Amino acid sequence: MNLILLGPPGAGKGTQAKRITETHGFPQISTGDILREALKNGTEMGLKAKSFMDQGKLVPDEVVIGIIDDRLRQGDCKSGLILDGFPRNVAQAEALGKLLDRLGKQIDFVIDLSVEEGELVQRICGRRTCKKCGMGYHISFTPPVADGICDKCGGELSQRSDDNEETVKKRFSVYKEQSEQLGAFYSTTGRYRKLNGMADINEVYRSIEEIIGAA
Ligand code: AP5
Ligand code: MG
Ligand code: ZN
Repeated sequence: MNLILLGPPGAGKGTQAKRITETHGFPQISTGDILREALKNGTEMGLKAKSFMDQGKLVPDEVVIGIIDDRLRQGDCKSGLILDGFPRNVAQAEALGKLLDRLGKQIDFVIDLSVEEGELVQRICGRRTCKKCGMGYHISFTPPVADGICDKCGGELSQRSDDNEETVKKRFSVYKEQSEQLGAFYSTTGRYRKLNGMADINEVYRSIEEIIGAA
């Protein structure tokens, strides 16, 4: 099962991808996570990406397409994968189509989570992530039992540097200009499904299960 999760910043792509991975085992491939990891490790790619990410702009296409090209060839993608945050514009979607053709793979479903802008800002500004295991929280909606500590592994929770109101607004405008049109791009394939991302996390997940169960 090969899936693409689309949606604006804070729509719940990462949250839902992690749930799908837990149930089905397909790896979550988040270009945002890969870039943040590269930055943490001080690689040239990570340092180059940082200024774009901090401004809420897209990292250049050749960088993220290169990341996906390497990642899709890895053995754990054999039985399925979940793309989270890629593609983000038409050029990336076209490049993905070519990569998949070359690997003899195809996308089963493109799931587009729609959420209103006001809700996104609230979600993103309250988001916290475990430094150790990557588990996601929200200080109001899904808080950890102990403040600042991961329920799952006891790791310290942190906030992303691009998760402030100003950068979120920029990320949202980039989404509107470049990424939203991917809905139209994929809608002709018969594999495109739009979901109400405003619903409760469990409800969104149930809808995803209905879609992928129908394959
Ligand atoms: P990336 O890391 O992908 O960020 P994003 O797209 O802005 O999306 P987020 O990760 O913020 O949101 P999400 O949809 O994963 O939401 P989440 O599940 O965490 O990219 C960051 C940057 O990297 C980009 O700005 C760009 O610079 C660069 N980049 C990455 N990919 C690129 C590409 N392909 N090309 C170029 N540049 C690229 O949920 C958010 C919060 O809401 C959480 O706290 C969660 O608990 C909560 N929540 C989730 N679902 C619900 C719900 N249903 N109800 C209530 N709360 C919920
Ligand atoms: Mg994410
Ligand atoms: Zn943890």
